[in-house]
Amino acid sequence: MPEKSANFWWVMRSNNPKVQWWFKLLTMGIFLGILIVWEIDSVSMGSFSRDFILLKVNSSEKFSPAFKDFIFTNIIQYYQYWVNTYQKLNQDFAGKNLAPKVKRQSINFTKNQGNTAAFGLEMVTNLSHKESASRPRVLRWISAELEANYSLNLLTNLLAPGGEPCRESRTVDVRIPALDGRDNIELSTGDIHEFVFHALDDSGKPHCLGGDYFETDIAGETWKSRPPIKDLGNGTYQFFLQVHPDFSGDYNLTIILLFRHYEGLRFWPERFAFDKVMRVIPVKFSKSSIELPEISQCKKSDLVRDVWSGRWTRHAKNDSCPISNDGRYRCQEPKFSCQKPWCDGPLGSLESNGWVYSTHCSFKMFSNEEAWNCLKDRWIFWWGDSNHCDTVRNMLNFILDVNDIKEVPRRVDLNISNPRNSSQTIRFTNIFNGHPNETDNNQGLNSLKDADYREFLKRYFSGDVVPDTIIMNSGLHDALHWSDIRCFIEGANYAASFWAEVFNGVRQRGLIPPEVIYRTTVAAGGYARILGFNPNKMEAFNGIVLDNFKAYDLVDHVIDDFDMTYPWHYDNRGNDGVHYGRAPAKLKWRDGQIGHQYFVDLMLAHVLLNALCSK
Ligand SMILES: *[C@@H]1O[C@H](CO)[C@@H](O)[C@H](O)[C@H]1NC(C)=O
Ligand SMILES: *[C@@H]1O[C@H](CO)[C@@H](O)[C@H](O)[C@H]1NC(C)=O
Ligand SMILES: *[C@@H]1O[C@H](CO)[C@@H](O)[C@H](O)[C@H]1NC(C)=O
Ligand SMILES: *[C@@H]1O[C@H](CO)[C@@H](O)[C@H](O)[C@H]1NC(C)=O
Ligand SMILES: *[C@@H]1O[C@H](CO)[C@@H](O)[C@H](O)[C@H]1NC(C)=O
Ligand SMILES: *[C@@H]1O[C@H](CO)[C@@H](O)[C@H](O)[C@H]1NC(C)=O
Ligand SMILES: *[C@@H]1O[C@H](CO)[C@@H](O)[C@H](O)[C@H]1NC(C)=O
Ligand SMILES: *[C@@H]1O[C@H](CO)[C@@H](O)[C@H](O)[C@H]1NC(C)=O
Ligand SMILES: *[C@@H]1O[C@H](CO)[C@@H](O)[C@H](O)[C@H]1NC(C)=O
Ligand SMILES: *[C@@H]1O[C@H](CO)[C@@H](O)[C@H](O)[C@H]1NC(C)=O
Repeated sequence: MPEKSANFWWVMRSNNPKVQWWFKLLTMGIFLGILIVWEIDSVSMGSFSRDFILLKVNSSEKFSPAFKDFIFTNIIQYYQYWVNTYQKLNQDFAGKNLAPKVKRQSINFTKNQGNTAAFGLEMVTNLSHKESASRPRVLRWISAELEANYSLNLLTNLLAPGGEPCRESRTVDVRIPALDGRDNIELSTGDIHEFVFHALDDSGKPHCLGGDYFETDIAGETWKSRPPIKDLGNGTYQFFLQVHPDFSGDYNLTIILLFRHYEGLRFWPERFAFDKVMRVIPVKFSKSSIELPEISQCKKSDLVRDVWSGRWTRHAKNDSCPISNDGRYRCQEPKFSCQKPWCDGPLGSLESNGWVYSTHCSFKMFSNEEAWNCLKDRWIFWWGDSNHCDTVRNMLNFILDVNDIKEVPRRVDLNISNPRNSSQTIRFTNIFNGHPNETDNNQGLNSLKDADYREFLKRYFSGDVVPDTIIMNSGLHDALHWSDIRCFIEGANYAASFWAEVFNGVRQRGLIPPEVIYRTTVAAGGYARILGFNPNKMEAFNGIVLDNFKAYDLVDHVIDDFDMTYPWHYDNRGNDGVHYGRAPAKLKWRDGQIGHQYFVDLMLAHVLLNALCSK
């Protein structure tokens, strides 16, 4: 597989003349902005205040977060090599800007810091009071939404002027009025708990411009999710915590400042990475009388949300589950069953040691027979980056029981028959979109500028039979091609118009154009969190692609793989940085351990089957 060893080399190779004009752009200060509007279904802000519960607050102890090291030695070595290469390339620029990272500042929260102290406390109420007051209440789940006019607003925000000192300052810390300086924080399950925090500069003053990229994580023994976070644009951020009543217990809330002021969106962002843990706050979720609507199994019509806010839950744990010689973790019997409503079917086959993902609806785990019965006679066209190669292979090897295909090339047309029933066949066509030449990289959607590549794609849609479904992904290669957000918006727009034209051609011949499933790009993991395809940038790119593709009415279904991968992106246990589905192998992995976890991509394969097969 060319890519395996080339993961980084395709990044390095792009040190071409482009760099020169990139630096010009960079110094011109072209930044991008993200603003996702997180919508809390039908729960008004008014009822938030009432539902906010904070118990056993103990402010006599000084808060001291535990710092977690997310970086591995070999990654540091790699990073140093990387930085040295830059310095050689861009000595003048690097000299000025490779200033040491700002040290975490200790801040005295008892000091009055301007008018920012107004948040939080007024929302604290008393759980026991609440419990005695009423019968069970059913609340809504947290949800997230892509802002309308995403691309345009992004451009507007990135161009927001500085001027005042508080807009020019740099964030080094945060202040969370409702949590800082408190111990034994206890929250009720079921409720949506809203918190607000402020970005602070190195003198402890509030920074008053948005665009800092905070990674948020709420994790316990049996639950992992990304709390939705909203940038209010003025140095204030709002995030939401919610845990289902079945998962009461101990959690850690972690907030990391990964990039400041849209710097993750730069072409070469690594030198600007801040990557500091702001808080690790132990939080106890206690069972309350509040209930949540039971999530139901995903129907096709459910899979239309652009942005998901799901969670991984755990339903089994085998403490003695060593890696097998084929690199697999068979911790439960394959038939070990899902616990409803979190999923349906054989959870053991996910080889996740009990973890499963669900979102606003939950997913069915497909048995071999169910998957074949659904996919037989279909023609699925995969268009995306190398993660597609892994997902196709995992779907074949793990679910469809086709074991003679050990590797799925970047360009391949496969007619596959069921080894258990040769009368069942499927056709999978996988076409790489990282570059018009399958052996090359870092073009992304710009591949469509190549006329031969466009013709090559069109050929699959020009016959009497066309694919019934396209599974699309714009991918990580875009991150290393487009140095300007405007250009990427144009590129996404061009890609949308290309496919719209292809589908019109299909319609004009009296055929039904394929259904389009758009699968968002993964959150790059571990060491890769600060590279060109970091989560800050890919989240923005996901939004831009969806915004533009939807403007052409191109997308039928969305699978938010960004949200699915997010809780696993803090280290490299479940990814090699850029791939979550590398084939199992009992070999030394990126993080130095033997073997790796591949279930996040296997989950994606099942989620895709839900989109392909559900009614
Ligand atoms: C609050 O913390 C202090 C210092 O650790 C401790 O002595 C005190 O008992 C705590 N109070 C409560 C109510 O937990
Ligand atoms: C924090 O500020 C308060 C009020 O200005 C002061 O009394 C206290 O000594 C300060 N604490 C520290 C640790 O600096
Ligand atoms: C909470 O409410 C209960 C019942 O109204 C009351 O007895 C208790 O003192 C309250 N606790 C706090 C910390 O206010
Ligand atoms: C989006 O942009 C269009 C065209 O500029 C405008 O008419 C529309 O009101 C905008 N929608 C929102 C929600 O901002
Ligand atoms: C920041 O903006 C939000 C939303 O517009 C507003 O509610 C809040 O008061 C602002 N905060 C500050 C400190 O300006
Ligand atoms: C929270 O983090 C601490 C320190 O990393 C760890 O020891 C503890 O197990 C974590 N708690 C949970 C519930 O994950
Ligand atoms: C735990 O995993 C081991 C190794 O795969 C297996 O032998 C054992 O049966 C598993 N235990 C349970 C309770 O599933
Ligand atoms: C797969 O089957 C289709 C339909 O029978 C055929 O047109 C196509 O050429 C086949 N592809 C390969 C690689 O055999
Ligand atoms: C094989 O597949 C065909 C077509 O789906 C089906 O009609 C038949 O029942 C299957 N045979 C067995 C033994 O499952
Ligand atoms: C793709 O790139 C390889 C290696 O650079 C080259 O040998 C090959 O001719 C290229 N293929 C096309 C179609 O340009």
